[in-house]
Amino acid sequence: MRLNKTGLFESLYYEPHAGQLAVHRSTARFRVVACGVRWGKTVCAAMEAIAAAMEPRDKSIGWVVAPTYDLADRVFREVEVIVLERLRHRLIQKKEAERRILLRNMAGGVSEIRAKSADNPVVSLLGEGLDFVVVDEAARLKPLIWQNHVSQRLIDKRGWALLISTPKGKGYFYDLFRRGQGQARDAEHESWNMPSWTNPLLDRDLIEAERDKLPQRVFEQEYGAAFVEGAGAVFRNVREVATGEWKEPQHGEVYFGGLDLAKVEDFSVLTIINAQREVVFVDRFHRLDWGLQVARIRAALQRYNSARATCDVTGVGDPIYEQLRRDGCAISPYPFSAKSKAALIENLSLMLEQRTLVLPRPEICPELVDELESFEYSVTESGHVRTGAPGGGHDDTVISLALAAWQVRKVGGGFKCWRAGPRWGP
Ligand SMILES: Nc1ncnc2c1ncn2[C@@H]1O[C@H](COP(=O)(O)OP(=O)(O)OP(=O)(O)O)[C@@H](O)[C@H]1O
Ligand SMILES: [Mg+2]
Repeated sequence: MRLNKTGLFESLYYEPHAGQLAVHRSTARFRVVACGVRWGKTVCAAMEAIAAAMEPRDKSIGWVVAPTYDLADRVFREVEVIVLERLRHRLIQKKEAERRILLRNMAGGVSEIRAKSADNPVVSLLGEGLDFVVVDEAARLKPLIWQNHVSQRLIDKRGWALLISTPKGKGYFYDLFRRGQGQARDAEHESWNMPSWTNPLLDRDLIEAERDKLPQRVFEQEYGAAFVEGAGAVFRNVREVATGEWKEPQHGEVYFGGLDLAKVEDFSVLTIINAQREVVFVDRFHRLDWGLQVARIRAALQRYNSARATCDVTGVGDPIYEQLRRDGCAISPYPFSAKSKAALIENLSLMLEQRTLVLPRPEICPELVDELESFEYSVTESGHVRTGAPGGGHDDTVISLALAAWQVRKVGGGFKCWRAGPRWGP
């Protein structure tokens, strides 16, 4: 007995568009789909996972993987909604915390679908043999995750994979994509390249309106699904200016701080720049007790001649911020909105473009160079342009640097103050 996919999709009231249909019909073991935003990737991925779980088997297990927790959750929610609305009679168990669904498949066997985020592979991608894996936003997986943590899971059971994504430069996803194309095609691979406008449900005029709003190379990548190297990058010359060293505080020097406080999942980062626009100190810490964070930040600011700092205060009444103020740190808020963030990022981008900033060498602060290089333009679900880390990854180091750079923007290179601890107004 084989699964009748068409029948299944009909029973789920899912009518794949022509592009999605081509993907669903293919029997290649490795299917690679490079397509534009809003093409219907997540729906296609979720439907494939459900169809796979319905295959008549004694038992089966498959993963839906995405670069971050949020993105993996999005596919999982899609699966969950369909199961709850249309396949409730097949649901055996749903473990919310583990993001795991057990279904009764067409042969009465038990099939499991698990959602996995690839941002902490050692913990979350620990191995079991898989029958299938579906990867959404695959091109945004960190390098080597596919090779070292995901594809290996398919060996035992000769499982299959569907990787679906908007293109992003020419990494492993591009290599896999090429293996399914033209002359280079091997029997196990099939790949497709489809721009957003091949989704007939998307309004073509809306897409054309986006063309004017985005840098051309970004539009070509995001909507045109073109493999353009470095298309979405916001910051240029990052490596060229990353030639500096950490520097101890100098007597008489003025320093400027940028502080990005951790929300839930991320890091707190303090960056200190001198008036010559050299980054002299970066401290990055994760989930410390807040009292310890306050002490650590206060000590660093004091050490750098009572540096004046700007702090991202999206979380109003942040206890760390409030305590630093009470402790007498010269710290001022930078209220975050889409507009103010754009100004902040643009200022940093300009300084890098003009090479007026010196960053620490990549060897001594790898996170800074990594986060700056991967910081990118992208298009949100509501069609707005945003800048940030790919797939909701970390950008705390970038924001902290941007806040410090914001303070130093009016100071020309070579500026020196004759007294320590400047006390000018807020
Ligand atoms: N075959 C289809 N029939 C009806 N609606 C669809 C179909 N495919 C996708 N959609 C709808 O189109 C919208 C975009 O789909 P989806 O979120 O899967 O696209 P995406 O390519 O993952 O987008 P993004 O680039 O934002 O991640 C969603 O509202 C989805 O429900
Ligand atoms: Mg999606």
